[in-house]
Amino acid sequence: MALKFTVNVLVLLSVTLMAASSVEAQLGYPVSYDITGKLYCTLNGSIGTNGTATPVFPGALVQVVCVNTTNPLLTGTTLADGRFTLQTPNPIPPNCTLVVPTPLSTCNSSLPATGGLISALRSVGSIFIRLYAKHYVYIPEGFSYVPDLP
Ligand SMILES: *[C@@H]1O[C@H](CO)[C@@H](O)[C@H](O)[C@H]1NC(C)=O
Ligand SMILES: *[C@@H]1O[C@H](CO)[C@@H](O)[C@H](O)[C@H]1NC(C)=O
Ligand SMILES: *[C@@H]1O[C@H](CO)[C@@H](O)[C@H](O)[C@H]1NC(C)=O
Ligand SMILES: *[C@@H]1O[C@H](CO)[C@@H](O)[C@H](O)[C@H]1NC(C)=O
Ligand SMILES: *[C@@H]1O[C@H](CO)[C@@H](O)[C@H](O)[C@H]1NC(C)=O
Repeated sequence: MALKFTVNVLVLLSVTLMAASSVEAQLGYPVSYDITGKLYCTLNGSIGTNGTATPVFPGALVQVVCVNTTNPLLTGTTLADGRFTLQTPNPIPPNCTLVVPTPLSTCNSSLPATGGLISALRSVGSIFIRLYAKHYVYIPEGFSYVPDLP
């Protein structure tokens, strides 16, 4: 009984959310899909055992690559502090991954000179910025090194 109630509420909630977002689209509210994160200069792109002393990975290409497509959907570059933000007004299709094709050896010559980092995308919800612009935010699920990038 309690479970059924919960399921009904969830269905109602998702229908309401879908209705709300299509109304927004019709009203012309600016909507943006943002992928944001920070790359460190480590074999997994994550902060290492040295904590905030871990060097970052500036100037690295970050791309959104979708399954069965050849050209990246989005491309950007990490800033001096290792952060990146990719933005698009279009919804991000399922089956897309984040790829860093710039070799890790670029930031540390002890790291691999071939292959690169890859991560699934995780949706973390939406926020309003400057009143009317709605941003759907995605972050990397967690990078890992692969010798052969897709
Ligand atoms: C990434 O690698 C570092 C150093 O090997 C390790 O401390 C950290 O836990 C790893 N992080 C993830 C998310 O795998
Ligand atoms: C952690 O910091 C120490 C001292 O600066 C350094 O020798 C070591 O290489 C660092 N380790 C990593 C994984 O960056
Ligand atoms: C990708 O292509 C393969 C082979 O053509 C196909 O089986 C698969 O369904 C495709 N996946 C998507 C998400 O389009
Ligand atoms: C595509 O996405 C679906 C749903 O998230 C997942 O089940 C499937 O494994 C993915 N396929 C590929 C080729 O990434
Ligand atoms: C470069 O990478 C090696 C291997 O992971 C690591 O031991 C070393 O600490 C790194 N150097 C710096 C300056 O982070």
